[in-house]
Amino acid sequence: MKDKIKALLKEKNAILLAHNYQPPEIMDVADLCGDSLELSITAAQTDADIIVFCGVHFMAETAYILSPEKTVLLPRTDAGCPMADMITPEALTKRLAELPPMPVVTYVNSSAAVKALSTICCTSANVIKVANSLDAPEMLMTPDRNLALYAASKTSKKIHLWDGYCPFHNALTPDDVHLARKAHPDAVFMAHPECPPNILELADVIQSTSGMIRYASESKAKSFIVGTEIGILYPLKKAMPDKQFFPASLKMECRDMKKITLADIVNSLETMTGKVTVPEDIRIAALQAVQRMVALA
Ligand code: 13P
Ligand code: SF4
Repeated sequence: MKDKIKALLKEKNAILLAHNYQPPEIMDVADLCGDSLELSITAAQTDADIIVFCGVHFMAETAYILSPEKTVLLPRTDAGCPMADMITPEALTKRLAELPPMPVVTYVNSSAAVKALSTICCTSANVIKVANSLDAPEMLMTPDRNLALYAASKTSKKIHLWDGYCPFHNALTPDDVHLARKAHPDAVFMAHPECPPNILELADVIQSTSGMIRYASESKAKSFIVGTEIGILYPLKKAMPDKQFFPASLKMECRDMKKITLADIVNSLETMTGKVTVPEDIRIAALQAVQRMVALA
């Protein structure tokens, strides 16, 4: 199946991008694995004709927003993000009418229509840089309240919250962390900024998924407790076979991130199904917010 995918990618001048939470067999066949920011940057720069996105819907939409001349394939179009579904353009418009005028910073984990109403996008890797880049003392940050609280703790800006969250990161409890620390007393605890503040308080390191891979490879430490979706354990162990990585909790498993199979990728490339597009008026409005973010990288 992997050889078939490689042959199809070559034949069609396609590139396969995979998020760090994807299943191991997909990461093994991908041209690039990365965090949301790295994947967005690559999607903007590649000269491939087709981008096969192994991740969830908002990631494929972001690739299309940046590269509408390319065909963007999401091999399972039902792979979504529950956090992205916690905000709609209608709800955002209503909230904005209640607030004084201010910029809107929107996490890439959102629909194109929500990005279209936003000033700038951010990811977990650049949220502080993005907040500080705005010439405004306050802003609304959507949809992840945990990411927004993290940014608020690291900047002097006043950040208004949206009540969204990732169900898998939000489910991690201090008890889970204490248990993991007890089992692995020498391990460094790395947490993702989608975790709630009472978890980030306990963390030794707060990083995006690729930030965790970089941090662990540069660290002298030999063992790590990992507070993010458990798919990240595979690239961590693959990059550092001499180090140990333990999940902070096995309940941090995102079902949507595990939907795509190798067979889905073959089918999508052979039949050109799973195309993701965005209506042009929404794309143009969303592009500004995404491009402002990419320009800061
Ligand atoms: P990053 O890989 O950008 O840290 O994103 C985490 C995430 O939850 C993506 O859905
Ligand atoms: Fe969305 Fe959380 Fe799944 Fe990422 S891990 S795609 S934020 S539900």
